[in-house]
Amino acid sequence: MASTQVPEKPAAQHLRRAYPKQPPAPAAAPAHAAAAYPGEAPRVLDVQHVEKVYGSRNAVTQALADVSFSVAEGEFMGIMGASGSGKSTLLNCISTIDTVTAGHVLVNGADITSIKPAKLTRFRREQLGFIFQDSNLLDTLTARENIALPLTISRVPARETLSRVEEVARRLGILEVLDKYPYQMSGGQQQRVAAARAMVTNPAIIMADEPTGALDSKNARLLLECLETMNRTYRATVLMVTHDAFAASYTHRVIFLRDGRIFTELNRGESPRQEFFNRIMEVVAIMGGEGSDAL
Ligand SMILES: Nc1ncnc2c1ncn2[C@@H]1O[C@H](COP(=O)(O)OP(=O)(O)OP(=O)(O)O)[C@@H](O)[C@H]1O
Ligand SMILES: [Mg+2]
Repeated sequence: MASTQVPEKPAAQHLRRAYPKQPPAPAAAPAHAAAAYPGEAPRVLDVQHVEKVYGSRNAVTQALADVSFSVAEGEFMGIMGASGSGKSTLLNCISTIDTVTAGHVLVNGADITSIKPAKLTRFRREQLGFIFQDSNLLDTLTARENIALPLTISRVPARETLSRVEEVARRLGILEVLDKYPYQMSGGQQQRVAAARAMVTNPAIIMADEPTGALDSKNARLLLECLETMNRTYRATVLMVTHDAFAASYTHRVIFLRDGRIFTELNRGESPRQEFFNRIMEVVAIMGGEGSDAL
């Protein structure tokens, strides 16, 4: 396999990818129509015939089988499927947390299945942002310090870091919690801080695994609106795994996994969120679900 082509960005180049001082105002078009769709924007992610097998001989689990799809820059993409269908495995293979058994994953054209272990940490830090079900904030740091952490690690100058943290916090409506510690925040606020931390480096892809899983419906909605804001305002590419049809209805496109394979795919197109939700629920029903949590 070819060696990695993930670019090693010099610091100055990295900073140029920082957010514009005046982020573009959201387009007048409907929210869901503002981001690009495949074919209109460069591909950020190419998953090619990915297979993942766990275990050996007596206890083999085929977690993923011949999974292929692409994600365009600026897409907000959902991955749904029943428990055990391979959603987290897929996300972990894309994020290099796990290795593929066969197939390839290209991020901005570079094959990440062949990145040398020594370069993996840097790849994840510079190209990916993560949001998990549990916010994973560091208890001993304030929200501001937590959000700043990836920039601090990348040695972004302090003044630049401060302004980027404030800008993201303002966009996500969490300015008032910036000086609080995680234990002083609600679960929803913690999750929005985690979302800010995931996007402050302006990563190629933001990966979210059940980000609303531990939230009540009001906070789930607020987080989804944050993801929508990131996607629309900064053209962030978001890949979100979810069980929940309501959460999936915020995306532009949903891939449904069943037994490690792509069962079908839904494109939102120009439809309003409620209509997309109804279409998602139809697929859930066809796949044998009994409600938005049944997948
Ligand atoms: N480390 C592992 N070793 C062995 N089998 C694994 C491992 N991780 C996952 N699996 C198996 O791979 C399959 C897919 O698991 P995965 O965690 O990707 O499912 P999921 O769709 O994320 O499920 P959930 O909705 O419950 O989070 C399951 O059958 C699971 O038991
Ligand atoms: Mg999972």
